[in-house]
Amino acid sequence: MNPNVRPDDMKRIVNFELANAFIDEQVAAIRAQVGDKKVLLALSGGVDSSVVAALLIKAIGKQLVCVHVNHGLMRKGESEQVIEVFGKTLDANLVYVDATDRFLDLLAGVSDPEKKRKIIGGEFIKVFDEEASKLEGISFLAQGTIYPDILESIKQAEGKKAVKSHHNVGGLPEEMAFELVEPIKLLFKDEVRVVGEALGLPHAMVYRQPFPGPGLGVRCLGAITRDRLHALREADAILREEFDNAGLAEKVWQYFIAVPDIKSVGVKDESRYEGWPAIIRAINTKDAMSATIEEIPYAVLHKITARITSEVEGINRVLYDLTPKPTGTIEWE
Ligand code: XMP
Repeated sequence: MNPNVRPDDMKRIVNFELANAFIDEQVAAIRAQVGDKKVLLALSGGVDSSVVAALLIKAIGKQLVCVHVNHGLMRKGESEQVIEVFGKTLDANLVYVDATDRFLDLLAGVSDPEKKRKIIGGEFIKVFDEEASKLEGISFLAQGTIYPDILESIKQAEGKKAVKSHHNVGGLPEEMAFELVEPIKLLFKDEVRVVGEALGLPHAMVYRQPFPGPGLGVRCLGAITRDRLHALREADAILREEFDNAGLAEKVWQYFIAVPDIKSVGVKDESRYEGWPAIIRAINTKDAMSATIEEIPYAVLHKITARITSEVEGINRVLYDLTPKPTGTIEWE
């Protein structure tokens, strides 16, 4: 039996009863695989790595070492949530690395999206590698691989052309020869969420919308500057809050703000006020290969616009991207 192929008779995990059975099974399997050795996990705070962390904490407690690298491109409050949930509530062995300056210094002046992705991915590996080499006696590496990742690599091996280099931040150099622990590799995303809730992770973490590895780095368009990145993060937080208030947060597949490197003339307090536009993107999709636009009610758009233009320093306009994929990709870069 190929361990990377989901057996035909594997039940879809649709409720807590099935999730708990899966958890018990995986806890036993993890203990059998790992014994008394240590396991390392790059914990981004995304659904997959968070569920893997919670499973491993249940199975082996402090034998798991979670490393959370804050690349300075996280959304507002995300790293704080990782520290709160894993460091405090679950009392995990958590190493938090604030590498913001390293990433932003390297990215200064770089405007090409693929170069930005390479820098972010490469630096992530470096920082993670440095942290890993400070730790002693690690034998295993846990990963939040899920079944669509496996299906995607099969497609890539068959030679389908990629539009963007979607390398997931969190990849490791090949010379780091750890044995892998991949407890959710046969699960689909909806199943991962049910398991996450059964493990007691916060609903907001488990139902978090997808977030690209390079984070806000590919939404702060062109060469990233700290002031524009800050404006983007604040505007994005407002968008998320208002989507929550309007009941759109779990209805819309992905929604975010992008801020381009252009300024327009505006007016504030009766004076000329040059600022960046905040672009709203809100899409629905099944597989991210094509996407349709969510029709956000005008009242919600007005509220978001009023809040962003009054609360976020540097933004003087709000635009609403109506482009489906194709021709627009979901992200702007
Ligand atoms: P696009 O922009 O290609 O996005 O239509 C499709 C989905 O992939 C996400 N995305 C990324 N995810 N690393 C990632 O881990 C990346 O470099 C990357 N670029 C795009 C995007 O957010 C959307 O969900």
